[in-house]
Amino acid sequence: MLSGKHILLIIGGGIAAFKSLDLIRRLRERGVTVTPVLTRAGEEFVTPLSVSALAGRKVYRDLFDLTDEAEMGHIQLSRVADLVVVAPATADLMAKMAQGLANDLASTLLLATDTPVMIAPAMNVRMWQHAATQRNLATLRGDGVHVIGPNDGDMACGEFGPGRMAEPLEIVAAIEARLSDGPLKGRRVLVTSGPTHEPIDPVRYIANRSSGAQGTAIARALAELGAQVVFITGPATVPPPEGVEVVRVETAAEMLAAVEAALPADVAVFAAAVADWRVSQASQKKLKKSKDGLPKFDFAENPDILKQVARMTEGRPPLVIGFAAETDDVINHATAKRDRKGCDWIVANDVSPATGIMGGSENAVVVIDESGAETWPRMSKVAVARALAERIARALGASV
Ligand code: C5P
Repeated sequence: MLSGKHILLIIGGGIAAFKSLDLIRRLRERGVTVTPVLTRAGEEFVTPLSVSALAGRKVYRDLFDLTDEAEMGHIQLSRVADLVVVAPATADLMAKMAQGLANDLASTLLLATDTPVMIAPAMNVRMWQHAATQRNLATLRGDGVHVIGPNDGDMACGEFGPGRMAEPLEIVAAIEARLSDGPLKGRRVLVTSGPTHEPIDPVRYIANRSSGAQGTAIARALAELGAQVVFITGPATVPPPEGVEVVRVETAAEMLAAVEAALPADVAVFAAAVADWRVSQASQKKLKKSKDGLPKFDFAENPDILKQVARMTEGRPPLVIGFAAETDDVINHATAKRDRKGCDWIVANDVSPATGIMGGSENAVVVIDESGAETWPRMSKVAVARALAERIARALGASV
C-alpha cells in the first residue's frame, strides 16, 4: 500500500529519536523512500551515520550547506515527498511550526513545503500539558497538520502521562491511512467512543457501561478507508485504534470541549455512552461513611454533545450520526431520538441483557435516516463498523 511513496522524515531532538530509526526501517520494509533530515538537537540523540545507513540515503542537516544546495535546494527538498513526517516533534519544533519560524533546515522545510505534514509529538508530560504547547497544537491542527500521539506512559524523565511518542508501527498505520487512496481520503471524521466518568469524589464516579469496542471499530474502519480520524474517547476497556489521532477524556464536559476543538469535520460519529448526569459539586476529599445516614447529592445535567453539534447553526458537520442503545421498541424510540437530537442518522441497537451485545463482540443494528429504518443482520462489531464506514463513504459521494 505504501510501496513507491516518498517520505521526508524530520527527526527532532528528543530521547524518542531512537524510535525514528526503527520507523525508517519499518517504512523501508514497506517500499517507502525515506529522505531524512536531522536537526542539530536530533544529532545529540542519534548519529547522522546511523540515520543515513538505515535510510540508505544522504541525511540533510544544514540550511546553508553549499553542496546540498547545489544538489537539491531546500525548497525543492521540501516538496519531493508525498508526506512530511516530524518524529519526534519536540515542543520547540511545534512552537516554531506554529509561529512560522524558519531559522534552521527543518523549520525552513516545514514552512516551504506544499505537501501534507504529520507530527508525532514527544516531550515531558508537563511540557505537553503546558498552555503554550496546547495553544501551538490547536494552531497546527487548524493549519491542517495531522497529529499522531503522544501516548500515555512512563517517560524517560521518570514522570508518567501523555508525552511518549507514538510507536513506529502506529506512525506507519497513520501514514498508511493518510496516504491511502481510499474513498474517504481527504475527509476529516470525528468519532466519540467509550463511557464518560463523572466524579463523585476522588475515588467514586458515575458511568454507563461501555467497552468502547464499537466506537473503536468504527474509527479503525473509517481510517482504513483513508479518512483522517480524530478519536475522542472516555476511559474505555479496549485500546484505541492505530492510525488515528486519539484524544483521551474523562468527563462529558471534557468530551464536549474536545469535540469542539476537533471541529470542523466532514462527519461526526457519536458512539460514546455519555453519562446523562453528574454530581454538581464533586467532593475534593473521599466521602466517609457516616452514622447520620446516606450522603445526599445534587445532580446536574451533562451537555448533550450529539444534540449540541447536530443543532449547530454554523460549522455543523454535513453528516452527524448518533447512536441509540435501547432495550425495547427499538425502531420507534430511535426514530424519536433522531428527531429530538437533530442528527442525520441514528444507529440503534437492542442492548437488553438477553442479546449479549453489551460488552460482546457482535451487534445487531438498525440504521435510521430521513428515508426510514434499515435493519442489518446480526454480525461482528467489526463488520458493523465496516458497513457503516462504507455507508458513510457512499453518503459523501464515493462509489464503495
Ligand atoms: O440520549 P441518549 O444518550 O440515549 O443518546 C444517545 C446518543 O447521544 C449517542 O450517540 C451518544 O453518543 C449521544 N450523547 C451525547 N451526549 C450526551 C448523551 C448522549 O453525545 N450527553
